[in-house]
Amino acid sequence: MRSEMEKDILKVLITEEELQERIGQLGEALYEKFQGKRPLFLGVLKGSFVFMADLVRACQLKSDVEFIAVSSYENATVSSGRVKINHDLQQDITGRDLVIVEDILDSGNTLAFLKDYFLTKGAASITIVTLLDKPSRRTKAITADLSGFEVPDEFVVGYGLDYCQEYRNVPYIGVLKPEVYTG
Ligand code: PRP
Repeated sequence: MRSEMEKDILKVLITEEELQERIGQLGEALYEKFQGKRPLFLGVLKGSFVFMADLVRACQLKSDVEFIAVSSYENATVSSGRVKINHDLQQDITGRDLVIVEDILDSGNTLAFLKDYFLTKGAASITIVTLLDKPSRRTKAITADLSGFEVPDEFVVGYGLDYCQEYRNVPYIGVLKPEVYTG
């Protein structure tokens, strides 16, 4: 497939095939955990939209889907630390078993904020699933219950992850060339 973005990618970190294989395993693990229950898959927009679409199809449970949109990077490469809700929940989550679906767990600011927020809204349980985990950058004491891949401290894009809102539609996880974000 032709791509306008390929020239900005330094290397492919995780291929489409590797993503699908791992997401299949994550779907299985969630099936095991929630069989007979009705979890609410809660995607954290925008980054999680591609992963969410594949994860819910990899887990054939009777479940519900919901989204919340937050941001803390505001086009910067380092988290501002302040999490802003851009689009709030559209349903009552009291008593629900939540599966929070994230594309990446980096400083932990976003998930630390969201975990508290969802507990105050009455969630019965919270299971955090992240496709990528970058533990080297963590500043908050937060861990994922399920994680797809641990990634090094490099600027990763694709499969939902952006740089200045671009590259979300790149089908694999790639590392951005430094000259793209250093100008
Ligand atoms: C990204 C990503 C996570 C968060 C992780 O979102 O989607 O939600 O950062 O980083 P953290 O662990 O340091 O909080 P971003 O704020 O860039 O918004 P986006 O999802 O719309 O790209």
